Amino acid sequence: MRLDKFIGNNTELSRTQIHIAIKQGLISINDIPVAKTNAHIQDGDKVVFDGKLIEERKARYLMLHKPAGYVSANSDSEHPTVLDLIDMPFKQELQIVGRLDLDTTGLILLTDDGQWNHKITSPKHLHTKSYLVTTTDTIDESAITIFAEGVLLKGETKPTLAAELTILSSNQARLSICEGKYHQVKRMFAAIGNHVASLHRERISAICLDESIPPGKYRPLTRDEIASFEK
Ligand code: URA
Repeated sequence: MRLDKFIGNNTELSRTQIHIAIKQGLISINDIPVAKTNAHIQDGDKVVFDGKLIEERKARYLMLHKPAGYVSANSDSEHPTVLDLIDMPFKQELQIVGRLDLDTTGLILLTDDGQWNHKITSPKHLHTKSYLVTTTDTIDESAITIFAEGVLLKGETKPTLAAELTILSSNQARLSICEGKYHQVKRMFAAIGNHVASLHRERISAICLDESIPPGKYRPLTRDEIASFEK
């Protein structure tokens, strides 16, 4: 691969900055400064820019604890986005794996591995998502059966797939669903005459939100967490 392309792919330097750096002798291949912009590198070559090793970028996999007030989008004219919470080069290349509403908190996954994202979000794969739901009104026991049997949401023609509701207190429950319809949890509670006051995603399939991550912070996924979608 051409040296300038390799540097362009793996740093945030512009083409002009790369060419100036090469001309100034700031870039070396295997400890030998390079002067030609059209130099080529081979697999395993050590490329250093200004004393720093440039490494081939690898796909990134992150879990973010989303606070309320952030949009699950790469850009938004009105509100800050979850990407505003990320401090990494090339963050615009991160894809948001399944969105949460502006006021919903909790687990968001981000990656620049499109295939991995697809494995999680494609409707073909029914991954369970668990939410902690706080409602304005008392949750009636009948909701357990109604949600297990499927409920017809306003504007839909087919009922929701079986969902598991565990009532934790008079107005708090854990709901596990395996679809991702628009505002699904809020609409499910609306369908039984209740109203969601707050919503927090705790889990996507085998990946649970790490309780040690404060709102607004993130960490890379572990190898096992990444691989959990292969199983
Ligand atoms: N269901 C909702 O209603 N909102 C979310 O943010 C996620 C699931």
